[in-house]
Amino acid sequence: MSPTLSLTLRIWRQQQPGAPGGFETHRLEQVSADLSLLEALDWLNERLIAAGERPVTFEHDCREGICGSCGFLINGQAHGPQEATSVCQLYLRRFRDGEVLVLEPWRARAFPLLQDLSVDRSALDRVWAAGGYCSVNTGQAPEANTLLVGREQAASAFDTASCIGCGACVASCRNASASLFVAAKLAHLGQLPQGQSERQRRALAMTERMAAEGFGSCSNQLECEAVCPKQISADWISWMNRELRR
Ligand code: FES
Repeated sequence: MSPTLSLTLRIWRQQQPGAPGGFETHRLEQVSADLSLLEALDWLNERLIAAGERPVTFEHDCREGICGSCGFLINGQAHGPQEATSVCQLYLRRFRDGEVLVLEPWRARAFPLLQDLSVDRSALDRVWAAGGYCSVNTGQAPEANTLLVGREQAASAFDTASCIGCGACVASCRNASASLFVAAKLAHLGQLPQGQSERQRRALAMTERMAAEGFGSCSNQLECEAVCPKQISADWISWMNRELRR
């Protein structure tokens, strides 16, 4: 039989943007420690629905740490206390029996709140759409061996491509900067031969769009790197700045 624990959840509840919000307290009594935190919220929501109350709104999709849909603050930490872990991969066994968890939405000007723990992160999509692509002639796929990519180069590009766009970097930054997100996207394409022709234009377009969307500037606090579930290095922000100088 799996161990159980009891937790107190203090959850930010807000019906809609601009409405007054506040924390609501719920007890989870003797629940399985093998539940994920999102499963615990599912369980809570079933109880709320059965009682005729509004369930807690939170985002999720894959629940495997690959889509970037999930994300909120747990006791002030983006994605919670476990390093390199998105909130959907966080299990209750990570917490102590009797612990109080304060769940809050990402808080950033560029991420307007939708409801409860859910915010609108489409600003990241617009930054990405401003330049995060490679233009190609459509038609027959070219022979793969005509574009050779070295092993280290491919691995490094893949590391940056692993950014899931969850927004934890923004939510944890005192300036609500999206620099780590943008740097990862630029470095992903900028390290590959396919990304070279639009490389300079891409850097300008994406960083200009980042500022226009209301994200702040990087001031090297490095909190973004600490909370990134994919452990993307903040060194890529320096790489991005060199890219811009070029
Ligand atoms: S739900 Fe897909 S990364 Fe968490």
